[in-house]
Amino acid sequence: MIPERASAYDSFAEGYTAENETSLLNAHYERPAMLELAGDVRGRRILDAGCCSGALSAALRERGADVTGIDASAGMLEQARMRLGADADLRVGDLADPLPFADDTFDDIVASLVLHYLRDWVPTLGELRRVLKPGGRLLVSVEHPFAIFLGQRLAGEETNYFRTRERTEEWTMGGQTARLTFWDRPLHAMTGAFTAAGFRIGAISEPSALPSARELFPDGYDEHTGMRFLSFLFFALHAD
Ligand SMILES: C[S@@+](CC[C@H](N)C(=O)[O-])C[C@H]1O[C@@H](n2cnc3c(N)ncnc32)[C@H](O)[C@@H]1O
Repeated sequence: MIPERASAYDSFAEGYTAENETSLLNAHYERPAMLELAGDVRGRRILDAGCCSGALSAALRERGADVTGIDASAGMLEQARMRLGADADLRVGDLADPLPFADDTFDDIVASLVLHYLRDWVPTLGELRRVLKPGGRLLVSVEHPFAIFLGQRLAGEETNYFRTRERTEEWTMGGQTARLTFWDRPLHAMTGAFTAAGFRIGAISEPSALPSARELFPDGYDEHTGMRFLSFLFFALHAD
């Protein structure tokens, strides 16, 4: 079943895609950091889980990977198909459900900015582990739990960091608006879920945006931290 929160992306598929192409957070921070974490992907079979309109899939494919994308939003997958071509392997699917792939199918899975839409990570991580080959990697980026918590506290909200919490926001991108529901959780709940699903944590990283983005986004520059800010948190997980 496709949940309301995921198909909410249908209502701003074009607007989101256009902004994702050039934004500081996606084009100059999250995507380059994810590609850096992935390293040399030539010849690797990769699942892009929550592939959205396919920007990361395209970059991985340019680097020689064989990419399959899955996303709950049919509208986003239409955008991805326009980018990647009619023969791209793209599936509509909910990451809360069993995945339509055999055991040990992928060398790597990238789950870029998608897990924070899911309330319960247990079935999802179990499925991602199942479809990864032994020795494969799950590369994850999520909203940084400290950034979310600090933002809420600074806004005067009485947030309990240690609970898994529902948050709804209205996003307007490229003139289109969507109401999105997120599930925030503390760092220990993330690391606990990864290890309980059988992953070894290889790296937790808080990378910088591309230093070259400073000219385009002077507001992103901080005199103490440069182009490094609390926004997303990255994990490299290994299926040993
Ligand atoms: C912020 S976008 C991801 C960005 C994208 N990975 C990139 O590299 O630019 C979030 C995506 O997650 C998808 N999504 C949200 N919940 C989902 C779910 N339960 N199952 C599958 N996809 C989901 C949305 O449809 C949307 O396309």
